[in-house]
Amino acid sequence: MTFKRVGFDIDPKLFERAGVNIHDPKLKELKEQRDKQMHNKFNRDLEQKRSSTVWSKSLWASGEIKFTLNEWKPEERSNPVKAKNLGNKAFKLAKEMVNGHLNVIMSGDAGVGKTSLALAMVNMLREAGKTALFVSTIALSELVSEQYEYSDRKMRLKELTRAMKTCDVLLLDDLGADGGSTEKVMGYGYTGTRKDLQALLFDVANNRYEGTEKERKAADKNHIKLIKPVHQTIITTNNLTDELIRIYGERTVSRLVTRDPNHRLAFNDMEDMRIKEGI
Ligand SMILES: Nc1ncnc2c1ncn2[C@@H]1O[C@H](COP(=O)(O)OP(=O)(O)OP(=O)(O)O)[C@@H](O)[C@H]1O
Ligand SMILES: [Mg+2]
Repeated sequence: MTFKRVGFDIDPKLFERAGVNIHDPKLKELKEQRDKQMHNKFNRDLEQKRSSTVWSKSLWASGEIKFTLNEWKPEERSNPVKAKNLGNKAFKLAKEMVNGHLNVIMSGDAGVGKTSLALAMVNMLREAGKTALFVSTIALSELVSEQYEYSDRKMRLKELTRAMKTCDVLLLDDLGADGGSTEKVMGYGYTGTRKDLQALLFDVANNRYEGTEKERKAADKNHIKLIKPVHQTIITTNNLTDELIRIYGERTVSRLVTRDPNHRLAFNDMEDMRIKEGI
């Protein structure tokens, strides 16, 4: 018996020498199993590559911060029960987000651990093959202002905006920090943050919530109802939701900030770890 493969014959002795019993009735099944394993590995490698490419587009305020859930130490906090609960909730939510459609908000004062815990979630999601992106709102505001003067900044912003609209998980860090003090934000006559940033964030929020134009068209064509938010966002903020509305506008906030209490992590009554650590 000979095997035909793309137009030429393969000597069965080659299989025998390789330890393959060509008379094994399970050979076809084994081959299919192996092909499937190879295919899965190929897809996993591709996912990891995509995930690293997107992550490398992140916009940091002052260099990349690394934080994993193992580094979250509730016992070192003055309110260990609360810190433990926050850690558990973050772990549960990250698991839900692997195949879910939800937004998460972490709010509280400075230095309480919001960014750290949000990064721990993102780390889990990246390990699960999701594409994730970190964007510091302050750095984004700077980039938006610099785009008019420097063409490389304009290009960077364009590329970043595209990634912000399409990545699986966006970590928008310190949302509201560009808005000014609470007194200013809630004061009479305040009209919000710079208009170009407001417009950009609405565009991002809308594409993340409703899906990109391409995704919406494809869904329409195939009579599929997209589950919203199509792309998930994790927000950390020192501001209350009402303040965020004053800074960015209600339409943006309603698309990015969840009202579901299960998806809101309030870091109340937590001490500033930077003061404690002397940072
Ligand atoms: N439970 C914890 N275990 C270990 N380190 C912690 C914990 N909570 C906070 N930290 C550390 O405290 C510092 C401040 O935390 P982080 O930057 O996450 O705070 P934040 O709430 O995002 O503050 P801000 O509002 O100023 O951005 C970091 O160095 C962080 O690693
Ligand atoms: Mg922070």
